[in-house]
Order: sequence, then structure tokens, then C-alpha cells
Amino acid sequence: MRVTIRDVRKMKRRGEKIAMITAYDYTSARIVEEAGVPIILVGDSLGQVVLGYDSTVPVTMEDMVHHTKAVVRGTTSVHIVADMPFLSYQADQAEAVRNAGRFLKEAGAQSVKLEGGRQVADTVRVIVRAGIPVMGHIGLTPQSINQLGGYRVQGKSVAAALGLMEDAQALEDAGAYALVLETVPSPLAEMITGRLSIPTIGIGAGLHCDGQVQVFHDLLGLFTDFVPKHTRRYADLAGSIKEATARYVNNVQTQVFPTDEQSFPMDQSVLDEISVNASRPQ
Ligand code: KIV
Repeated sequence: MRVTIRDVRKMKRRGEKIAMITAYDYTSARIVEEAGVPIILVGDSLGQVVLGYDSTVPVTMEDMVHHTKAVVRGTTSVHIVADMPFLSYQADQAEAVRNAGRFLKEAGAQSVKLEGGRQVADTVRVIVRAGIPVMGHIGLTPQSINQLGGYRVQGKSVAAALGLMEDAQALEDAGAYALVLETVPSPLAEMITGRLSIPTIGIGAGLHCDGQVQVFHDLLGLFTDFVPKHTRRYADLAGSIKEATARYVNNVQTQVFPTDEQSFPMDQSVLDEISVNASRPQ
């Protein structure tokens, strides 16, 4: 049985902090499940860290369904949240329900996440009514990067902070079971967390959220284009991969690899016979 949205809500009530991490493929999902995370987000951040786009805007439903399926195949017990990509839920509510449903029905996720506050609350309500659990996402919403004009801290002015508080409440009222708060001042995230009964999961939102989420490639030092301020690097996988690959290249060039240990022997009698046959004129 996988972690459910009831379990996630219970974690808030018990004061148990929620550690969420992104994953986009079978192998990494298996590893992070074994490490004990309760929730994996198949984030549309895959657009940047896996597919090499400069934002999440180009990511498609097909990209997300494909990667969500791989993550589902790699896991048995974690709760899997699939990120709804740009334009899969903004244009019309019926399309939003159908797209959200694909993540559960085709890909095997347990819930979906979408970005926005009051402006998407009615869409969240309709998706939840269809039986699909929704995680909200407010603050810095990367799909709106062209409107926000950059990856900046959100909610710094009185009006913006009050707006985010209203967004958070609107999402809870619409039936969201949890809420990502991205790149907002810590005191504001703490206030929102205190006012909601659903858990908040922060990224660049300070210590007082009910949980934290990080991008796999940032946390483990696999993505080296830049290090976001909200990330602590727990490993240098890019460095380890480079060092190991350089050793492999050197071992191939100097014929240190492969050895007998990585090779397959043949019976001497078979070898003798084919050598005789091969040397006979045709
Ligand atoms: O796509 C993603 O990885 C996200 C997290 C940063 C919350 O939305």
C-alpha cells in the first residue's frame, strides 16, 4: 500500500515533518524510496534538469506521463505526485480533469500538482470532485515565469503577502490536500502554515513549513549550471560521475579494462576446432 493523502494530512497533525523530493526515472525513484522519502514529486522541473530546456514552459503532457510511469515502476510504497505541465489545466476545466485523470489512470500516480492560487481554485475543486487529489503550488510559480519576469522572491509587499494568504486559503477551501510554497519569505510561510489545516511543503520558504521539497539534481549535485539559494548540496554526484567516467576512459585506453573478470571464456576444444576450420581454405 502506498502512502495516501490521509497519511500526509496525519503527518501535519502529528507534527511529523514531510520530506519530498523529485524523481523522473525508474532508477532514481527506487533509490530515493529506499532512502525513506514518503512522497516523490515527478516535477515539471524535468524540463530543465532532464530535458535541457531553459524553463518548464515547453514540457508536455506526454513528457510528464512518460516519466511518471517510469517513477511508478520503480516504487511500491511512496506517494507519487505528478506535476501538471503548462497549458494542461489553464485553458478549460474539462480538459484539466481529463489530463489530471491520465496521471492516475495511465501513469499510476496517486495525486497531481498544479500551479496558481485563487485563479485556479475552481479548477482544483472540479478535479478534486472527480476523485483526483490535488496538491497546490503558490509563491514562485515557474510556469508563469514570463509573467513574473524572473525567478524572484514572492510575497514581499503587504499586498503580495495578503494575496498569497488568500491564495492558500482558496486552495484549501477548494479541496487541495497539501500546498507547495515556493520562494516566499520564511515568516510569511510560517503564518500561512499556521493558518491552514492542510500541510505546506516549502522550497525556499524556511524551516516552519510542514515539509520541504527539493529537486533531486540540485540536492545531490547533479545539475551544475547553478546552485539555487534554497538548496543544500548533500552530494557531488556530478563530480563523482566525472571522476569515475574519466577513470573508465583511461582504463579502456590503457587496456586495464576489461579483465578476465568481466569477460567470458570458451572451451579449449571448441576453440581448437574453430581455429582448424577457420584456417582451412574455402
Ligand atoms: O517541478 C518541480 O520540481 C516543482 C518543485 C520545485 C516544487 O514544482
